Amino acid sequence: MASVTSLTASVHQRLATALTATLPEAAADPLLRRSDRADFQANGILALAKKAKANPRELATQVVEKVVLGDVIKDIEVSGPGFLNITVTDRAITENLAARAADPEGRLGVPYAESPGTTVIDYAQPNVAKEMHVGHLRSAVIGDSVVQLLEFTGETVVRRHHIGDWGTQFGMLIQYLDEHPHELDHKAGEVTGEQAMSNLDRLYKAARRKFDSDEEFKTRARRRVVDLQAGDPHTLAMWQKFVDESKIYFFSVFEKLDMEIRDPDIVGESGYNDMLAETCRLLEESGVAVRSEGALCVFFDDIKGPDGNPVPLIVQKSDGGYGYAATDLSAIRDRVFHHKANSLLYVVDARQSLHFKMVFETARRAGWLNDDVKAVQLAFGTVLGKDGKPFKTREGETVRLVDLLDEAIDRASAVVREKARDLSEEEIAERGTQVGIGAVKYADLSTSASRDYKFDLDQMVSLNGDTSVYLQYAYARIQSILRKAGDIRPAAHPELALSEAERALGLHADQFAETVAESAAEYAPHKMAGYLYQLASLYTTFYDKCPVLKAETPEQIENRLFLCDVTARILHQGMALLGIRTPERL
Ligand code: ARG
Repeated sequence: MASVTSLTASVHQRLATALTATLPEAAADPLLRRSDRADFQANGILALAKKAKANPRELATQVVEKVVLGDVIKDIEVSGPGFLNITVTDRAITENLAARAADPEGRLGVPYAESPGTTVIDYAQPNVAKEMHVGHLRSAVIGDSVVQLLEFTGETVVRRHHIGDWGTQFGMLIQYLDEHPHELDHKAGEVTGEQAMSNLDRLYKAARRKFDSDEEFKTRARRRVVDLQAGDPHTLAMWQKFVDESKIYFFSVFEKLDMEIRDPDIVGESGYNDMLAETCRLLEESGVAVRSEGALCVFFDDIKGPDGNPVPLIVQKSDGGYGYAATDLSAIRDRVFHHKANSLLYVVDARQSLHFKMVFETARRAGWLNDDVKAVQLAFGTVLGKDGKPFKTREGETVRLVDLLDEAIDRASAVVREKARDLSEEEIAERGTQVGIGAVKYADLSTSASRDYKFDLDQMVSLNGDTSVYLQYAYARIQSILRKAGDIRPAAHPELALSEAERALGLHADQFAETVAESAAEYAPHKMAGYLYQLASLYTTFYDKCPVLKAETPEQIENRLFLCDVTARILHQGMALLGIRTPERL
């Protein structure tokens, strides 16, 4: 078996056995946690003693006598009112890491989830004919990391990019294009993403101008919406041109973000058109939705507007048109019944939380969601500028995502250039991109998604502190040591005693598997980020205190190289789960 039992789990097992032997009637859970005073501390004894009406210190002492010492646990002692402080053996640390390093699958002994399921994740959902902004960045970055984390645990992941590609706004655009038919005349591959966006922007502005100033055009544009909804082939063909042009742009941004987005996974709002009428029929027949002033609505006891009147979810408007809610409800049916998902995850701005609350509740009433099929909005906070206000340009406009990414890359390239004078211009450009994009992703992923965060490029590319550059440098530094070691290969020597810094690093390294499981189960990339930062910090301490290539004996050199190597592999794998590259040289 490739998966490795973590030290935490081994200690837990031994402790649970001793507890059960001492207090057979208690379903004993020692509640283990990492501790500064020893390697672990068990602090469930107090509660158990209380339940059993026993003296906690006495109970703790009895447990200690029954714990098997030697292989994993080196020392266990009662502390305070009845805590247990546990120290593991140096041998166990090294052996466990060696087992991780030897994992034939290269997964560092990380197990697959016990019963993986199918998750449909809705993320990276820009809007057709519109510029992408920082909100789209967050959804893409967080979503991509959650995809990586889930897939790593063996979950089947269906990616859905619910792009905004439908709605009345297309009437104006299509009508304009119909009257200026050569506007988007070029073959795929002939324009860059940047050009595609500027074409769309130009068309949008021109159409808007015409729409606002020319009543007859306005009428024609409105008729177009009807044609579009009726599926008129010519109208659809022109609509498709807008979608295709937008995709050229989207893909260029995702490429810049170093993110794999696949065309078949782009199933936008339009992808559910065929289901809308049926969705409404099902909701109306089951009584989940009712007609109110002509519109098909779902009401909620706990959702009221500022005037105290209930705010309904409108599934179909009184003019017969379908909106955002009908599409999302149809998407739920598709994801649950066609894709057989157990979990639906939506990486969407917290400002849409009310919408999703109503949509999920409606789907629950309809029986599409239930205890076995859950839906979760991974709601993310707002990106703020340095001034703590929503991120805008000085002129108060939304910042173009591309400009932001380019600036991050520029700053990062400057940092790279300064540090490494022996890199070629080409290498600086490549590393600068990896560092810059990594910095943007890491800044987003290292705070919990629900919180707002400040977009501060100076801080993001800083070499000190909780940044991706710091982690990338730690990785590159290890690679440089491994290169310098030449013929000396990393090798574990479990018989060697470890120093404090080695133990701290080793113990933390061993917790990678648990961090993966936790981050994936909670959709919490920030837990992985926090873990990796701590790993790099412990590595820095180790590196300062423990000479590697100048260690005392050949065995110690090999063992320290081994610790370096395992750390690097975890950094590499962990960063990959965040969607961030770890260059070999920096
Ligand atoms: N396109 C939307 C926006 O830009 C986000 C879509 C979210 N996903 C969904 N299923 N509604 O805000």
